[in-house]
Amino acid sequence: MLAYFAEQAQTMKIIENHSLKAFNTFGIDKKSRFFTQVGDLDSLKDTLLWAKEKELPVFILGGGSNVLLTQDFPGLVIKIELKGIEVVKETQDEIWVEVGAGENWHEWVLFAIKQNWAGIENLSLIPGTVGASPMQNIGAYGVEIKEVFESLNALDRDTLDLVTFDAASCQFGYRESIFKHEVKDQYVITSVVFRLQKKPKFNIEYGAIQETLENKGIKELSIQAISDAVIEIRQSKLPDPKEIGNAGSFFKNPTISTKEFDNLKTQFPSIPGYPVENGVKIPAGWLIEQAGWKGKRIGEVGVHARQALVLVNYGNGDGKAIEKLAQEIQDSVNEKFGIQLSPEVNFL
Ligand code: FAD
Ligand code: EPU
Repeated sequence: MLAYFAEQAQTMKIIENHSLKAFNTFGIDKKSRFFTQVGDLDSLKDTLLWAKEKELPVFILGGGSNVLLTQDFPGLVIKIELKGIEVVKETQDEIWVEVGAGENWHEWVLFAIKQNWAGIENLSLIPGTVGASPMQNIGAYGVEIKEVFESLNALDRDTLDLVTFDAASCQFGYRESIFKHEVKDQYVITSVVFRLQKKPKFNIEYGAIQETLENKGIKELSIQAISDAVIEIRQSKLPDPKEIGNAGSFFKNPTISTKEFDNLKTQFPSIPGYPVENGVKIPAGWLIEQAGWKGKRIGEVGVHARQALVLVNYGNGDGKAIEKLAQEIQDSVNEKFGIQLSPEVNFL
């Protein structure tokens, strides 16, 4: 088991009425009644017990890059700082690495690339923590973590037992896992074991990766070159939360039946769609743009001018205002196309 190293000796330090503004990438200024950061398993157990005794609700926070705070939280927010990276198994071609839930996702990707461990380079520059990555089976540029996922360790919030989930028991889907449904709010993910390749299988089919590599004059493909290309594409499309508050894609890309898609195509001949297992996946960004929302600003919140799937907080925006805007977008997309958009972001 991973020997989590706490950056400081941990004693249970619980802060009261703590602003979460710096702890969510939307930059929403809501408070939690109690707030703590945990860097080892014992502190995590102690804080869970403390909250249980006081009958307080608990919210587990990683990097806050996929949450929308709509109100002050009346309980305890536990920010996960469990750190550590450890090789657990190795063969000639593959390596299994256990990574602490509190490690920063992008720094872990860069670390793996440096060791020449392949498989997650297409997932460069996704904000947040390793522990949140299985929650919605993070994905980008043709890769999802389920492809490199071996298992995870999680603490049962009720019994405080440490349990292991393999890939099948996580029930991964597009932006989905069992942790968003059947066992929602029941576990704290403490570490994830990834299975990476020593001999890379490059994945450059998706999006503008190939074109970007050509423009950069890359002759010899490498996981470093792919990571650099993905970073460049992402920086050209997505707003940096340090400059403008956002949580990436606000909605998931919906899947509709082939029949529905064919019907829409007669009405909207330019509608894009990608065949998937159970129908056709439509880019929600296109639907939102066609419904007239791209670049729209309502007070302190709005729809990003370069990516209509990203809702933004210009500075002093409120979670409720973003929630209202999201509802209006859902209603108008439904009215125009008969498609119901579902949020990707977790509401609190
Ligand atoms: P948080 O926002 O802190 O939490 C998200 C959810 O996970 C919450 O419900 C929380 O309770 C739960 N959670 C967090 N940690 C744990 C834990 N250790 N145990 C149990 N539950 C936990 N996502 C993609 O998939 N692909 C992308 O390309 C992508 N691009 C993005 C770009 C930008 C600019 C931004 C801001 C976001 C983007 N996202 C993307 C969304 C986000 O980065 C991911 O969902 C990320 O995994 C969230 O990590 P986090 O640590 O910030 O989670
Ligand atoms: N589009 C528009 N207008 C827009 C935005 C997009 O018409 O304003 C259309 C275009 O047709 C474009 C297509 O949508 O070709 C796809 O756009 P993009 O390549 O930007 O990707 P996306 O579908 O909007 C998804 C993920 C991203 C991930 C990228 C790259 C979802 C919900 N989003 O975005 O993930 O980084 O692909 O793989 O699946 C996230 O989950 O937070 C996230 C950013």
